[in-house]
Amino acid sequence: MDDRPIGVFDSGLGGLTAVRELRRILPAEDIIYFGDTARLPYGNRPRETILKYARQDMAFLRGFDLKAVLVACGTVSTTSLDVLQAENDIPVLGVVEPSVRSALALTRSGRVGMVATVASVRSGAYQRLFRALAPAVEVTAAACPLFVPLVENGRVAPGDIVIETVAREYLSPIRDAGVDALVLGCTHYPLLTGVIGAVMGPSVALIDSGAAAALALRDLLAERDALARPRQGQAAYYTSDRAEDFRRLAGLFLREDTAPQVEQVDIDRYGL
Ligand code: DGL
Repeated sequence: MDDRPIGVFDSGLGGLTAVRELRRILPAEDIIYFGDTARLPYGNRPRETILKYARQDMAFLRGFDLKAVLVACGTVSTTSLDVLQAENDIPVLGVVEPSVRSALALTRSGRVGMVATVASVRSGAYQRLFRALAPAVEVTAAACPLFVPLVENGRVAPGDIVIETVAREYLSPIRDAGVDALVLGCTHYPLLTGVIGAVMGPSVALIDSGAAAALALRDLLAERDALARPRQGQAAYYTSDRAEDFRRLAGLFLREDTAPQVEQVDIDRYGL
């Protein structure tokens, strides 16, 4: 048993899709969440900048006595996970491997799709792991740079003509490739499940990378006998931008009625 909290971070609100799943499957766990909304999006930036930001995010979280960190950001997971793992003496999990394994378990046709940020697609991390685990699988990948800003502005509902137009443009080539599983390789994208599902059609399984990572973290903690005692876990939320803005949208991501307490932190003070 280990009652210490789990740290979770993302460039913004997207990582809350992983928190939602963690709270559902591990209600006894305490969670410390950091969303770097002041510097979002990470996904259009060069790797060095993403790594610098990720190290600062980790440095803030490591101010707490944590038992593990979930990197609930596809962009950090694809570009910086190995460095963060090497620099930290607690388990640090990303979203890539859990979602690739989930896609491989779901595909029947051997044709899978992957959508993520520009940095994630450019890194080739998803594509490499698919090739390593299942060389015969055909992967069609696409970057969707407008998805994150639209999601952070709450433009997620089916019927919203802006998000629907953008989604059709990005996803049509993947749909036309005949995939039957699509990895939502950025933790913001599960908010667009309705919109993406409408373009892809009902026979395509959508894989929520944050939720897949939450399940992998549960297995890891269980294996190490590091789950919390049965109790009601608490979540604390921190952001680098205005707490009120984070609070206003957090309910949408967490699917909770009450907006959480949020504290603003000066992330530039950490880790350099
Ligand atoms: N949620 C982040 C990801 O999974 C968003 C990336 C961004 O900040 O551009 O990649």
